[in-house]
Amino acid sequence: MEELKILILDDEKDYREGIEEYLSNQGFTVFKAAKPSDGLNILKNITCDIVVLDVKLPEMNGIQVLKRIKQLYPLIEVIMITGHGDMDSVIESLRSGASDFFTKPFRLVDLKRAIERTRRFIDLQNRVNDLQDRHNHLVSSILEREGDVIIGNSAAINKIFELMEKVAKTDDTSVLITGDCGTGKELVARGIHALSSRKREPFFDVNCGSIPDNLFESEFFGHNKGAFTGAIRNKPGFLETSGKGTLFLDEVCEMPKHMQTKLLRVLEGKTFRRVGSNHEIAFRARVISATNKNIENAVKNNELREDLLFRLNTFHIHLPTLKERKEDIPLLIDHFMRISIAKFGKTYCRKVDPAVYDALLEYEFTGNVRELEHMIEEALIMCDESVLRIEHFKNLKVTQKKVKFDSLNLNQLVIKEKEMIRQALNQAKKNKTKAAQLLNISRSALNRKLSKYHIE
Ligand SMILES: Nc1ncnc2c1ncn2[C@@H]1O[C@H](COP(=O)(O)OP(=O)(O)OP(=O)(O)O)[C@@H](O)[C@H]1O
Ligand SMILES: [Mg+2]
Repeated sequence: MEELKILILDDEKDYREGIEEYLSNQGFTVFKAAKPSDGLNILKNITCDIVVLDVKLPEMNGIQVLKRIKQLYPLIEVIMITGHGDMDSVIESLRSGASDFFTKPFRLVDLKRAIERTRRFIDLQNRVNDLQDRHNHLVSSILEREGDVIIGNSAAINKIFELMEKVAKTDDTSVLITGDCGTGKELVARGIHALSSRKREPFFDVNCGSIPDNLFESEFFGHNKGAFTGAIRNKPGFLETSGKGTLFLDEVCEMPKHMQTKLLRVLEGKTFRRVGSNHEIAFRARVISATNKNIENAVKNNELREDLLFRLNTFHIHLPTLKERKEDIPLLIDHFMRISIAKFGKTYCRKVDPAVYDALLEYEFTGNVRELEHMIEEALIMCDESVLRIEHFKNLKVTQKKVKFDSLNLNQLVIKEKEMIRQALNQAKKNKTKAAQLLNISRSALNRKLSKYHIE
């Protein structure tokens, strides 16, 4: 813990100066005031940890000052100096939030002990706060995990699974995920984390586009109490809270340039300091970053430092658009149906009209999987029957079913045709003219097909 700042508020000059001299010699930073108004003024400008407060004061009594301090600065600990035998003041001080007290006349060594007890209490409080931050983060990441399955069976998404598995095994490699919006970059980042040996550590996601410029440094590096106005307690930053887990830098191109330089230094040196502290902390997390921008352009346009890009981009994964993996659309529709039915309790809706699959297969998605997810969700809200239909969608039009000349369909067509020819020949007892009539084709056309398919 950094050195404690202590304010002494006592109108008796001898006490005030005696205490100041003693505590300064013990290595504490000490401020002093004779009147409550002066003391409160000091607290306004300096973030003190402890106030040593006399009960008998001019302007207002010590208990009132205590209440004011606790109201304005709840994290400051107050040690009261009470008159000998003044039990009422002692009880009221403790009830009003004082952390300790001792009675006049006192030995300076007793004061020092009271300060040390309070310091231990402050240390403990800081640790509890840090743990609370970590706990909150873990809980929210567990809750978010529910929708974390990556659906798809196309060649394109299988390639992505393969890359994810490979890079997850390397413990420390930085990964850059690119791809249009809504293609699943965050999902893939979470997937890599879940597949890696860091899976029990935090997955800490930071949206670089949503942090105000002036807060970036203290949010990333953390700060110590008093490092700047408003820094009322020690606070770990993202670099610290991500621990030995994964730090996910989403929309990384939105990071201000001055922060990019600082982040680069952390990634190179693997250490950092909280704002307002000289203590070096090791950076242990794996960094995964994501952007929907074209990275070459981002470097050219001076949005992303090239040297930072090299650090972030040790392993690159580019996600396909939904258009590039249309085969996955039906699977995704079924997946989002299951999720939305559970979410809205619409268990009576059991089927999706085939026309919906056809229409969504032809739909021009600009927001990729996210857009599809929202469309299904919205449509299901509108649906009060057992089948989800085109009419439940806001912007979906029936498509003219196109015959698809892919190899699978052609094969099926050939199989069907052979089967029909065989059936016709059986029915016509091998009479080709009759069989041709049954098939509604000419005798010469039948002959051509028979030789093509080698049917006797
Ligand atoms: N393959 C997939 N299987 C299931 N759900 C998916 C898949 N890909 C994306 N999603 C879902 O689509 C939504 C968008 O995904 P995600 O947030 O990971 O995309 P993104 O690329 O980070 O988007 P953006 O560029 O807008 O930040 C999420 O709800 C996610 O769960
Ligand atoms: Mg995202």
